[in-house]
Amino acid sequence: MQEVNIGVVGLGNVGLGALTILHDNAAQIELKLGFRLNVTAVCSRGVAAKELPPGLNPALKTANWREVVSDPRIHIVAELVGGTHVAREILEAAIAHGKSVVSANKELMALCGAELWDRAIAARINLAMEASVCGGIPIHAVLREGISGDRVTALAGILNGTSNYILTEIERRGASFSSVLEEAQQLGYAEAEPSADVDGIDARSKLAILAALAFGEKITPSDIYCEGIRRILPVDFEYAHQLKHTIRLICSARQTTDGLILSVRPALIPNSTILAGVRGAYNAVWVRGRYGEDTFYYGRGAGSLPTGVAVVSDLMRVAREIRSGSPERVSPFAHERLGVYKPIPITTQKSAYYLRFRVEDRPGIISKLAGVLASQQISLDAVLQIPSENWRDLPFVITVEPTTEQAIRDALAEMSTQDFLVEPPLAMPMEKPL
Ligand SMILES: NC(=O)c1ccc[n+]([C@@H]2O[C@H](COP(=O)([O-])OP(=O)(O)OC[C@H]3O[C@@H](n4cnc5c(N)ncnc54)[C@H](OP(=O)(O)O)[C@@H]3O)[C@@H](O)[C@H]2O)c1
Repeated sequence: MQEVNIGVVGLGNVGLGALTILHDNAAQIELKLGFRLNVTAVCSRGVAAKELPPGLNPALKTANWREVVSDPRIHIVAELVGGTHVAREILEAAIAHGKSVVSANKELMALCGAELWDRAIAARINLAMEASVCGGIPIHAVLREGISGDRVTALAGILNGTSNYILTEIERRGASFSSVLEEAQQLGYAEAEPSADVDGIDARSKLAILAALAFGEKITPSDIYCEGIRRILPVDFEYAHQLKHTIRLICSARQTTDGLILSVRPALIPNSTILAGVRGAYNAVWVRGRYGEDTFYYGRGAGSLPTGVAVVSDLMRVAREIRSGSPERVSPFAHERLGVYKPIPITTQKSAYYLRFRVEDRPGIISKLAGVLASQQISLDAVLQIPSENWRDLPFVITVEPTTEQAIRDALAEMSTQDFLVEPPLAMPMEKPL
């Protein structure tokens, strides 16, 4: 059978990882497919200085991506550049030239994946994006095909390896957020500009894609409530452990009778839940279906080779479909057409909450705070205080019975005017065992 030709645009971590696998594993891939996947072109701005796997000699090496997307020999273009500007041009141009596309770009797919899919379908080509969420975990394939017969009612995930690494290091060593972040930057685990990771922005793009896949709704990142991990202190883990919980940056999408509630935020999760065991740079996704109940997926969320596997597997699937001439594509969104989602405000969410205060100690503080909670009809569950001699900055915790996010926000706003507070109170939902 005739070989399928590939053009790889972007020769960074993911591009070089994919090329290494395509080259080292070429014989296995050919056996599985029954035909060869041939790397015909590679492209990056600094292509001349790139070290390709020895023995890999593509016919075209160029710094100009337009040469790749317009090359008549190429069947599939892999966009491994990232960002939303050039990457979008590459995808649109490739589709316009009738090439199928494989992309690892969560940012672009969260922003306009549905529109790109519509273009791809109109052009009768394929678009695949497995590597865009949870690098090494084949979660797209699971939601698109593996459990597509089920009806998903909720999903929760740990989708950002850097923030999970930072949280689990704070937990393990009692080190501060800023010192762990600095170390992570020195080790190359975190970017010099860490905001996308630690403020939840990267995780939010991934949740937008996963929720679209799982629920069939068109979701944009701005629909998702987002809060990062900068305020988490080592003492929060001490209190969480007393409550038999831990803290993770949880990406959550839940169906309610009124619609979907979507959030990325640090939350307390019971130690007994399987997500609590996800440590370091690993990612995980837990999915609940109406019929199949709970399933759980775990693996490396990033990295050159784990993400490269996702890219190469997409290339293989798309190549098979090209060779078999299948006119029916399985949408990367699991639904042929996404519904229009009306965001439900996070303020309607009901949960138990963990409230952490840092105060300058003096008599009457608890009764003042309890009074504010009572005025919002919030029932206090427990008060926890680890002994400390630093009366000028004393941390303690109040947990409350399930209430709405709106009631918590109103209570915190009222509490924030008190002059005994060292900083505004921190509120985190306490998730039920999953
Ligand atoms: N890194 C991961 O573990 C991971 C995991 C999952 C998904 N992803 C996604 O995969 C994509 C790539 O990430 P990465 O980590 O591999 O990025 P990267 O290391 O920064 O590589 C980006 C590559 O794109 C090339 N490039 C940039 N602008 C270009 C242009 N105008 N024309 C041609 N080439 C251009 C760069 O060329 P030069 O090197 O020559 O400058 C570089 O080779 C992103 O969408 C990212 O979100 C990454």
